[in-house]
Amino acid sequence: MKEVRWIEQGWSSDERFWFHHVSQGTSTLPVPYNWFLALEQPELSPLSTPGLLSDPGYLSRYGFIPSPKQTGPGTAYQDTYASFLGNPDGLPVGFSKLPAAPDPVTRAMQPDQLGFTCAACHTGQIEYQGTSLRIDGAPAMTDLGKFRNALGLALSQTNTVPGRFGRFAKRVLGEGHTAAQAAQLQGQLHGLLARIEQLKTITDTVAHQNVEEGFARLDAINRIGTQVFFTDLLGAPGFDARVNLAGNSAPVNFPHIWDTYWFTWVEYDASILQPMFRNAGEALGVGAKINLINRAQTLYKSAIGVQELHEIEELLAGKNPHSSTPGFKGLRSPAWPDDILGTIDPSRKERGQALYEELCQSCHLAPVSDAAFWSDPRWRQPNAAGERYLDLVEIPVLEIGTDPGQARLLGERRITLPSYLDIPGTGAGNTGLVDGTFGQMLAAVVEKATTL
Ligand code: HEC
Ligand code: HEC
Repeated sequence: MKEVRWIEQGWSSDERFWFHHVSQGTSTLPVPYNWFLALEQPELSPLSTPGLLSDPGYLSRYGFIPSPKQTGPGTAYQDTYASFLGNPDGLPVGFSKLPAAPDPVTRAMQPDQLGFTCAACHTGQIEYQGTSLRIDGAPAMTDLGKFRNALGLALSQTNTVPGRFGRFAKRVLGEGHTAAQAAQLQGQLHGLLARIEQLKTITDTVAHQNVEEGFARLDAINRIGTQVFFTDLLGAPGFDARVNLAGNSAPVNFPHIWDTYWFTWVEYDASILQPMFRNAGEALGVGAKINLINRAQTLYKSAIGVQELHEIEELLAGKNPHSSTPGFKGLRSPAWPDDILGTIDPSRKERGQALYEELCQSCHLAPVSDAAFWSDPRWRQPNAAGERYLDLVEIPVLEIGTDPGQARLLGERRITLPSYLDIPGTGAGNTGLVDGTFGQMLAAVVEKATTL
């Protein structure tokens, strides 16, 4: 067993555990929570029963980090975060249980769901000489595409491989279930597989645009667009959601997320100004259900956990960095752990510092451990709440010279919506449709969903 070490970054273990498993209202996976626990690993092993898909050791193949059921004997998080469910089944970091609730679209009761929270994509892990170093807010090493394929395969093998459905039914329904219950479960499985197949047939039409994401990268922005403006609009009356389909052509690495809360822009590409907007947009993107199609129910009603998103943001941001000793007081960047990775040669460190100052500092500013960073004139004057935000250096993407695909998305991808959604855009008239940029349309949807 490897030694596990979380680097000290300003959080208590309770806060960390809460961040790892708090639900933000998402049902990212297309299966109910208890189905996920009952599925077997997608492999053909005629002589033995395959292990469970939810086995943390198995899930670590996709880059997910194992996590305990609770933080320890104290479990003080239960006092701090009263409604928190913890991690009852020992799923990896970033997996969260969303309790049974009415579906915002149909109002039918839906069972417990399984969703990703921020930590699924924003927790890093480095293995070095038998130690697993874990870093909150660092890029995840996951491959979500491979994970999704495994889940799809596990579902279809449950249907086709002899014996597997019987074991699945026992786990979901209990030993003493009736034949009628099993038949009903089988019907639900068939329905889900048919839906997945149907969606795949449609999304395959844009598959040629995809750039494989692989480990440690994701095209989060295009995926949000496809989830909200295609998937969530399937079945909208008089509207063909396929107009909004696009491939995942702009994967980026998961960015680190410490310090960013005090920047004027909340995304490094200067695309989003408001953190709750980014978080709520993200929550919709990772599958928080929202009603955009059923006009008999409240439009824009969603499962987004606005309160939880707010608490997550506060935990990450911490208190005013300019109060008392200047410094970030929420999640902090990790300091180099000498005892694990070895001490840094002081003369090399000095050379590196000089190079940083010469080559990088004009854009990335002084290191946060330097007084110069805290007195930088880019810190704005205090706002009414006495908080100061840092104006980032903005440089045209052409000058930077990196792949512009991601930076252009919100401004260039076009989105068409049915006019009953009551979103301003061009082309309403009698067409019944409005058109606008992805950024504009996402902002409008998030605004309506969070102010309902
Ligand atoms: C499914 C994976 C995923 C989840 C879940 C997720 N993010 Fe992200 N996040 C990303 C990716 C990918 C990017 C980069 C997006 C881009 O630049 O296009 C990103 C960008 C960010 C950034 C911008 C960082 C910078 O330097 O610009 C912040 C901050 C952030 N996420 C915070 C959060 C928070 C807070 C949550 C939970 C409320 C969250 N993320 C949930 C994948 C995720
Ligand atoms: C002219 C401005 C500029 C200079 C100079 C510059 N950078 Fe950057 N750097 C950026 C921008 C803008 C981004 C993010 C956008 C992108 O990747 O296209 C970035 C991204 C990065 C990232 C990626 C962060 C992540 O999460 O993916 C690293 C690491 C980085 N820079 C390090 C450096 C280092 C080290 C130097 C000096 C040797 C340097 N940069 C010099 C502007 C600059």
